[in-house]
Amino acid sequence: KLYGDDRANSRGVDLTDEATVRSLRAGIDAALAQAWTAGPIVGGQDLAGQKARPVLDPSDHTRTVGTTADATAEHIDRALALAAQAQPGWDALGGEGRARILDAMGDALEADTPALLGILIREAGKTWGDAVAEVREAVDFCRYYADLARKQFGAPTRLPGPTGESNELSLHGRGTFVCISPWNFPLAIFTGQVAAALAAGNAVAAKPAEQTTLVGARAVRLFHTAGVPGDILHLLPGDGETVGAALVADARIGGVAFTGSTETARLINRALAARDGAIVPLIAETGGQNAMIVDSTALLEQVVDDCITSAFQSAGQRCSAMRVLFVQDDVADQMAHLLKGAMQLITLGDPLDLATDVGPIIDEDARKILVAHGERMDREAKLVHACPTGADLPNGTFFGPRLYEIDSLKRLPREVFGPILHLVRWKADSLDQVLADIDATGYGLTLGVHSRLEGRAQEIFKRLNCGNTYINRNMVGAVVGVQPFGGHGLSGTGPKAGGPHYLLRFATEKTLTVNI
Ligand code: SER
Repeated sequence: KLYGDDRANSRGVDLTDEATVRSLRAGIDAALAQAWTAGPIVGGQDLAGQKARPVLDPSDHTRTVGTTADATAEHIDRALALAAQAQPGWDALGGEGRARILDAMGDALEADTPALLGILIREAGKTWGDAVAEVREAVDFCRYYADLARKQFGAPTRLPGPTGESNELSLHGRGTFVCISPWNFPLAIFTGQVAAALAAGNAVAAKPAEQTTLVGARAVRLFHTAGVPGDILHLLPGDGETVGAALVADARIGGVAFTGSTETARLINRALAARDGAIVPLIAETGGQNAMIVDSTALLEQVVDDCITSAFQSAGQRCSAMRVLFVQDDVADQMAHLLKGAMQLITLGDPLDLATDVGPIIDEDARKILVAHGERMDREAKLVHACPTGADLPNGTFFGPRLYEIDSLKRLPREVFGPILHLVRWKADSLDQVLADIDATGYGLTLGVHSRLEGRAQEIFKRLNCGNTYINRNMVGAVVGVQPFGGHGLSGTGPKAGGPHYLLRFATEKTLTVNI
């Protein structure tokens, strides 16, 4: 057992082993030779959706990965009706019964690794390393929530009472959870939301991001094969304005789990407040304006490595990614110099190539936002380094990582989602101001500190209200059951995915008192 609870996290894949990589590559190639399709899956049936269109590879738009189609209003209505009928039976199955199915899902995901890697690489532009990490995280979510389901949703908790009276408390699903997931972790977050809702005894209407429906459909079929009844889990692809809006406005739903932008979380909150029906919870995990604070005692070589990982891995398309690097001024020149050198070693390219460090931006709309931000920074800030975007990559939405030096965090009123890092200098007597500026963003997702003054690092942790603080290491890649993940304020409603209290957010409680 790796982590002290009653299970072990997935061991993943060793990408330094040539034979493993060769055999995976053969599996990926075989998977990519298939014509992938995704559409609504309602009642366990793959249905023909509307607005059928090709899925194009973000690293080369001339390459078609498959086809996708959206759910109609009738599909949504039927899915919610079937879910409402079936959910009491799923809840009655209990924690152990649901846990067995989720464990089977973990095994099914592991067994399907080559196909999942292929779809993640070609549909979502994930590098090998990122794709392997996603499969691992998805497996870990299933097994972790299975473990929690056994412990928390098994026998009711007996409570004290006067002689002649028995009291007990039990946990139950809330009904049908709507799970709306993002394109940046289209397998891990998709699977994590669905597995948590299912573990707690809910039916699920899952809406994958419109950019990544193929991998969502693959996951739903695996859930069904693992034993989740077709009436309990439905896939309703489409965009947020139509399918997402219809789902969250429906009076029959029991809750919403959402990961995406702060703006969309606000819209969902408003829609939930405005609709008829039960008052239901929103579990939201949104963005960040994540900072790392480096003081002059830090080990700069390690800081550089951690900065490259935190800011540029996954092309910066992680909600946890570092956007701002606060460096104490007496080491700032050296830091900028080392970072520039390290950035020159970054390989941008086709994510199917194992040598690629940074793959494409998910689509042209997302890339345009980065280009526009870069243009503003070119006027307002000092460019330290820009990795070239590669004339050899004409058909993909690539953006070379950049480092700018800015005079103040106030120049960044909102999160910019991609591989752009901003360096800000601070003086020995201005740490309070740095903390105040970070606090003033209103976000509270991840925070990094590099300092060999332990008291200082702990003080920063205490004073800032961030969901995940990492001291003297990189600040991305939270591990299930090890670093429960989620933030506060503009970054979300606080629940920690992969943490011991997560399932409780998806549940309702019933007290039973019997006069014997
Ligand atoms: N959980 C991811 C990370 O920690 C982000 O969603 O990087």
